[in-house]
Amino acid sequence: MSEAQRTQVAIVGAGPAGLILARLLACQGVESIVIERRDRAYVEQRLRAGVLEQTTVDLLRAAGVGERMDREGLVHEGLYLQFDGVRHRIPLRELTGGRAITVYGQHEVVKDLIAARLGGGDEIVFEADDVRVLDVDADLPTIRFKVDGDERTIRCDFVAGCDGFHGVCRSTIPAETLSVYERHYPFAWLGILARTPPSLDELIYAHHERGFALHSMRSPELTRLYVQCSPDDTLDMWPDERVWEELHLRLATRDGWTLREGPVVEKSITTMRSYVVEPMQYGRLYLAGDAAHVVPPTGAKGLNLAAADVKVLAAALVDWYRTGRRDLLDAYSATCLRRVWRVEHFSWWMTTMLHRAPGDDAFDQRLQLAQLRYVTSSRAAATMLAENYVGLEHV
Ligand code: APR
Ligand code: PHB
Repeated sequence: MSEAQRTQVAIVGAGPAGLILARLLACQGVESIVIERRDRAYVEQRLRAGVLEQTTVDLLRAAGVGERMDREGLVHEGLYLQFDGVRHRIPLRELTGGRAITVYGQHEVVKDLIAARLGGGDEIVFEADDVRVLDVDADLPTIRFKVDGDERTIRCDFVAGCDGFHGVCRSTIPAETLSVYERHYPFAWLGILARTPPSLDELIYAHHERGFALHSMRSPELTRLYVQCSPDDTLDMWPDERVWEELHLRLATRDGWTLREGPVVEKSITTMRSYVVEPMQYGRLYLAGDAAHVVPPTGAKGLNLAAADVKVLAAALVDWYRTGRRDLLDAYSATCLRRVWRVEHFSWWMTTMLHRAPGDDAFDQRLQLAQLRYVTSSRAAATMLAENYVGLEHV
């Protein structure tokens, strides 16, 4: 076994949460090591959501990793809600005093962050097996793992648990100190990436009696589309023809608009859940991103919420190293949870307004339509959607 390595902050997980945290810390002179279970190509190619809030865009820019995002990202000043075959535009920029969203794939953000980190000579350990997080209630926590069969040990002042929903960090916290709040939804999203230009220059969230559908994009050549399906469905039940047929039906309008088809280059099913663990910290371990909370994708908030967490965590750690004060660290969970629950509500609200659950009857559907009509006709209600969608200011 080799000697233990020493760092200030050990970051478990090289998803958006871990990589943004590492970058924010490096910008402030705090040293960290990122430990990731997968290889670099896997994390750089993993297809996920692609909507960045204004607040996330501002954070990435301030951290010096916004250059390609500013060049290649697609700025959207509005989005469409569709129901009863009619599209209604929510003018995000106009309703939020100039704020907007940027469509830029999560894996592109991840690529930029990895390039910046490795370019600066800082370490990411990829393909770390059997990661164990020890002694987080003592002064010097330890992380052990194997790389190529060799055991490695890192000792650190703090551990950031950025290892996603299925990671190990959360489970190292004694279960009796945690409260879990959870909701499962009786539907899922089947997503495709199609090599064809988007059929409209903005996102369309469509309510339909056959179920929800979403038109999104990745670039001027790539369209991202989703249809609501059952969580029990498998990909072989959804040949391309069936996916296109449902998309045509659910996204159809009465004005002759047509959906462009193209070769399907990726297809996957995402189940949906809401999940929050409280508190988000224990001893010297701080959970951030999906390790602490999950939202259904309808509000496009997963990455953005992870970014908000690590902004709070980075500021608290930097303050500790500069002044020796613990108050920001002690307040980490409570500070984050205020935003987490706001975003949980928004994501749940968008989800329940737009999807058709198996037991829904005509009453449920009429309530949804009443809400959609209100959101698209009242400036106050549209502003509520818009300011949440572009992201409320960070604390
Ligand atoms: N040891 C080391 N790394 C691990 C371990 C482990 N035991 N378990 C998981 N990981 C890694 C995963 O391989 C992944 O790269 O942790 C990373 C977690 O990344 P994400 O799942 O992307 O979570 P997070 O960084 O919190 O990002 C927030 O944004 O679009 C949303 O839900 C989406 O995951 C995304 C989220
Ligand atoms: C996406 O482009 O993948 C996307 C967009 C909006 C969402 C979820 C996913 O709400």
